[in-house]
Amino acid sequence: MRIFIDTAEVADLKVLAATGLVDGVTTNPSLIAKSGRKIAEAIEEICALIPGPISAEAVASDYDTLLAEGRFLAKIAPNVVVKLPLTPIGLRVCKALSDEGTPVNVTLCFSAVQALLAAKAGATYISPFIGRLDDNGQDGMELIRDIRVIYDNYGFETQILAASARTAIHVRDAALAGADCATLPPAVFNALYKHVLTDLGLEAFMKDWEKTGQSIL
Ligand code: E4P
Repeated sequence: MRIFIDTAEVADLKVLAATGLVDGVTTNPSLIAKSGRKIAEAIEEICALIPGPISAEAVASDYDTLLAEGRFLAKIAPNVVVKLPLTPIGLRVCKALSDEGTPVNVTLCFSAVQALLAAKAGATYISPFIGRLDDNGQDGMELIRDIRVIYDNYGFETQILAASARTAIHVRDAALAGADCATLPPAVFNALYKHVLTDLGLEAFMKDWEKTGQSIL
Protein backbone atom coordinates (compact mmCIF):
# COMPACT_ATOMS: atom_id res chain seq x y z
CA MET A 1 0.00 0.00 0.00
CA ARG A 2 1.39 3.40 -0.95
CA ILE A 3 1.59 5.99 1.81
CA PHE A 4 0.71 9.63 1.17
CA ILE A 5 1.00 12.44 3.70
CA ASP A 6 -2.03 14.64 4.31
CA THR A 7 -0.53 18.09 4.89
CA ALA A 8 0.49 21.32 3.18
CA GLU A 9 3.28 22.02 5.69
CA VAL A 10 6.48 21.96 3.64
CA ALA A 11 8.74 21.83 6.72
CA ASP A 12 7.01 18.63 7.93
CA LEU A 13 7.20 17.12 4.45
CA LYS A 14 10.94 17.77 4.22
CA VAL A 15 11.47 15.70 7.37
CA LEU A 16 9.14 12.93 6.22
CA ALA A 17 10.55 12.81 2.67
CA ALA A 18 13.92 11.91 4.20
CA THR A 19 12.43 8.62 5.47
CA GLY A 20 12.18 7.42 1.87
CA LEU A 21 8.76 5.98 2.74
CA VAL A 22 6.51 8.75 1.43
CA ASP A 23 4.88 8.04 -1.93
CA GLY A 24 2.81 11.20 -2.34
CA VAL A 25 0.93 14.06 -0.67
CA THR A 26 -2.67 15.16 -0.37
CA THR A 27 -3.83 18.66 0.47
CA ASN A 28 -7.25 20.24 0.84
CA PRO A 29 -8.54 23.80 1.27
CA SER A 30 -8.43 23.51 5.09
CA LEU A 31 -4.81 22.33 5.03
CA ILE A 32 -3.82 25.14 2.63
CA ALA A 33 -5.56 27.66 4.91
CA LYS A 34 -3.72 26.23 7.93
CA SER A 35 -0.36 26.53 6.13
CA GLY A 36 -0.97 30.23 5.43
CA ARG A 37 0.57 29.71 1.96
CA LYS A 38 -0.64 30.65 -1.52
CA ILE A 39 -1.90 27.38 -3.04
CA ALA A 40 0.17 27.56 -6.25
CA GLU A 41 3.41 28.26 -4.37
CA ALA A 42 2.84 25.56 -1.78
CA ILE A 43 1.91 22.94 -4.39
CA GLU A 44 4.91 23.82 -6.59
CA GLU A 45 7.27 23.43 -3.63
CA ILE A 46 5.70 20.14 -2.51
CA CYS A 47 5.81 18.76 -6.07
CA ALA A 48 9.54 19.51 -6.27
CA LEU A 49 10.15 17.90 -2.88
CA ILE A 50 8.26 14.65 -3.40
CA PRO A 51 8.25 13.04 -6.84
CA GLY A 52 4.95 11.14 -6.35
CA PRO A 53 1.37 12.26 -6.88
CA ILE A 54 0.49 15.55 -5.14
CA SER A 55 -3.23 16.29 -4.80
CA ALA A 56 -4.28 19.94 -5.11
CA GLU A 57 -7.96 20.72 -4.64
CA ALA A 58 -10.07 22.91 -6.92
CA VAL A 59 -12.85 24.82 -5.17
CA ALA A 60 -15.25 26.50 -7.62
CA SER A 61 -18.94 25.61 -7.56
CA ASP A 62 -19.69 26.02 -11.29
CA TYR A 63 -18.52 23.71 -14.08
CA ASP A 64 -16.51 26.18 -16.19
CA THR A 65 -14.59 27.67 -13.27
CA LEU A 66 -13.95 24.29 -11.65
CA LEU A 67 -12.57 23.00 -14.95
CA ALA A 68 -10.41 26.11 -15.38
CA GLU A 69 -9.10 25.75 -11.82
CA GLY A 70 -8.32 22.08 -12.43
CA ARG A 71 -6.40 22.92 -15.61
CA PHE A 72 -4.52 25.70 -13.77
CA LEU A 73 -3.54 23.39 -10.90
CA ALA A 74 -2.49 20.62 -13.31
CA LYS A 75 -0.06 22.99 -15.02
CA ILE A 76 1.84 23.72 -11.78
CA ALA A 77 3.89 20.50 -12.08
CA PRO A 78 3.70 17.17 -13.91
CA ASN A 79 2.97 15.28 -10.67
CA VAL A 80 -0.11 17.31 -9.69
CA VAL A 81 -3.32 15.33 -9.21
CA VAL A 82 -6.40 17.54 -9.36
CA LYS A 83 -8.68 16.94 -6.41
CA LEU A 84 -12.39 17.45 -7.02
CA PRO A 85 -15.45 17.05 -4.80
CA LEU A 86 -17.89 14.19 -5.25
CA THR A 87 -20.70 16.32 -6.68
CA PRO A 88 -22.45 16.20 -10.06
CA ILE A 89 -20.30 19.10 -11.29
CA GLY A 90 -17.17 17.65 -9.70
CA LEU A 91 -17.68 14.37 -11.56
CA ARG A 92 -18.37 16.14 -14.86
CA VAL A 93 -15.08 17.98 -14.47
CA CYS A 94 -13.43 14.71 -13.43
CA LYS A 95 -14.54 13.16 -16.71
CA ALA A 96 -13.32 16.15 -18.74
CA LEU A 97 -9.91 16.32 -17.05
CA SER A 98 -9.44 12.55 -17.11
CA ASP A 99 -10.22 12.54 -20.84
CA GLU A 100 -7.47 15.18 -21.25
CA GLY A 101 -5.04 12.88 -19.44
CA THR A 102 -5.01 14.75 -16.12
CA PRO A 103 -5.18 12.48 -13.08
CA VAL A 104 -8.04 13.27 -10.71
CA ASN A 105 -8.57 12.44 -7.04
CA VAL A 106 -12.29 12.52 -6.19
CA THR A 107 -12.66 13.56 -2.59
CA LEU A 108 -15.35 13.63 0.11
CA CYS A 109 -16.54 10.10 -0.67
CA PHE A 110 -18.82 8.65 1.99
CA SER A 111 -20.66 5.85 0.18
CA ALA A 112 -19.90 2.93 -2.13
CA VAL A 113 -22.27 4.18 -4.83
CA GLN A 114 -20.50 7.55 -4.83
CA ALA A 115 -17.26 5.62 -5.41
CA LEU A 116 -18.93 3.74 -8.28
CA LEU A 117 -19.84 7.04 -9.95
CA ALA A 118 -16.31 8.41 -9.49
CA ALA A 119 -14.84 5.32 -11.15
CA LYS A 120 -17.29 5.66 -14.06
CA ALA A 121 -16.18 9.32 -14.38
CA GLY A 122 -12.60 8.13 -14.87
CA ALA A 123 -11.14 9.12 -11.49
CA THR A 124 -7.55 7.99 -10.92
CA TYR A 125 -8.14 8.01 -7.14
CA ILE A 126 -11.20 7.86 -4.92
CA SER A 127 -10.84 9.22 -1.39
CA PRO A 128 -13.24 7.59 1.10
CA PHE A 129 -13.04 9.44 4.44
CA ILE A 130 -12.71 6.74 7.11
CA GLY A 131 -12.33 8.91 10.20
CA ARG A 132 -15.20 11.24 9.43
CA LEU A 133 -17.50 8.23 8.90
CA ASP A 134 -16.41 6.78 12.25
CA ASP A 135 -17.04 10.20 13.84
CA ASN A 136 -20.54 10.05 12.38
CA GLY A 137 -21.27 6.69 14.02
CA GLN A 138 -20.66 4.64 10.87
CA ASP A 139 -17.96 2.10 10.01
CA GLY A 140 -15.43 3.82 7.75
CA MET A 141 -13.53 0.62 7.07
CA GLU A 142 -16.66 -1.12 5.79
CA LEU A 143 -16.74 1.49 3.03
CA ILE A 144 -13.17 0.65 1.99
CA ARG A 145 -14.07 -3.05 1.88
CA ASP A 146 -17.24 -2.38 -0.16
CA ILE A 147 -15.45 -0.20 -2.70
CA ARG A 148 -12.71 -2.85 -3.09
CA VAL A 149 -15.34 -5.47 -3.98
CA ILE A 150 -17.19 -3.18 -6.40
CA TYR A 151 -14.02 -2.05 -8.20
CA ASP A 152 -12.76 -5.64 -8.44
CA ASN A 153 -16.17 -6.90 -9.65
CA TYR A 154 -16.08 -4.57 -12.63
CA GLY A 155 -12.33 -4.17 -13.21
CA PHE A 156 -12.29 -0.43 -12.43
CA GLU A 157 -8.73 0.86 -12.28
CA THR A 158 -9.56 3.77 -9.96
CA GLN A 159 -7.28 3.49 -6.93
CA ILE A 160 -8.72 3.50 -3.43
CA LEU A 161 -6.98 6.20 -1.40
CA ALA A 162 -8.08 5.71 2.22
CA ALA A 163 -8.40 9.23 3.65
CA SER A 164 -9.19 10.85 6.97
CA ALA A 165 -7.10 8.21 8.76
CA ARG A 166 -6.76 8.96 12.46
CA THR A 167 -4.85 5.98 13.88
CA ALA A 168 -2.33 3.26 13.06
CA ILE A 169 -5.22 0.78 13.33
CA HIS A 170 -6.96 2.62 10.49
CA VAL A 171 -3.80 2.15 8.41
CA ARG A 172 -3.57 -1.56 9.25
CA ASP A 173 -7.25 -2.14 8.46
CA ALA A 174 -7.12 -0.15 5.22
CA ALA A 175 -4.15 -2.26 4.09
CA LEU A 176 -5.99 -5.46 5.04
CA ALA A 177 -9.07 -4.27 3.16
CA GLY A 178 -7.00 -3.80 0.00
CA ALA A 179 -6.81 0.00 -0.21
CA ASP A 180 -4.24 0.97 -2.84
CA CYS A 181 -2.99 3.94 -0.82
CA ALA A 182 -3.70 5.75 2.43
CA THR A 183 -3.12 9.40 3.24
CA LEU A 184 -1.98 10.13 6.78
CA PRO A 185 -1.40 13.24 8.85
CA PRO A 186 2.29 13.37 9.90
CA ALA A 187 1.44 12.28 13.47
CA VAL A 188 -0.31 9.12 12.22
CA PHE A 189 2.62 8.34 9.91
CA ASN A 190 5.06 8.69 12.84
CA ALA A 191 2.83 6.48 15.01
CA LEU A 192 3.32 3.61 12.54
CA TYR A 193 6.87 3.11 13.82
CA LYS A 194 5.83 2.85 17.43
CA HIS A 195 5.46 -0.21 19.63
CA VAL A 196 6.18 -0.23 23.35
CA LEU A 197 7.95 -3.59 23.05
CA THR A 198 10.29 -2.14 20.42
CA ASP A 199 11.25 0.67 22.83
CA LEU A 200 11.65 -1.66 25.83
CA GLY A 201 13.54 -4.25 23.79
CA LEU A 202 15.94 -1.65 22.43
CA GLU A 203 16.53 -0.22 25.90
CA ALA A 204 17.44 -3.70 27.23
CA PHE A 205 19.73 -4.44 24.28
CA MET A 206 21.56 -1.14 24.75
CA LYS A 207 22.09 -1.76 28.47
CA ASP A 208 23.52 -5.22 27.79
CA TRP A 209 25.65 -3.89 24.95
CA GLU A 210 27.20 -1.25 27.21
CA LYS A 211 28.24 -4.05 29.61
CA THR A 212 30.30 -5.70 26.84
CA GLY A 213 32.53 -2.62 26.59
CA GLN A 214 32.72 -3.22 22.81
CA SER A 215 32.27 -0.83 19.92
CA ILE A 216 31.38 -2.13 16.47
CA LEU A 217 33.50 0.38 14.52
C1 E4P B 1 -8.09 13.66 2.14
O1 E4P B 1 -7.55 13.82 1.10
C2 E4P B 1 -8.35 14.71 3.13
O2 E4P B 1 -7.43 15.76 2.92
C3 E4P B 1 -8.17 14.28 4.55
O3 E4P B 1 -7.74 12.94 4.67
C4 E4P B 1 -9.27 14.66 5.45
O4 E4P B 1 -8.96 14.24 6.74
P1 E4P B 1 -9.71 14.82 8.03
O5 E4P B 1 -11.04 14.17 8.12
O6 E4P B 1 -8.83 14.43 9.17
O7 E4P B 1 -9.79 16.31 7.85
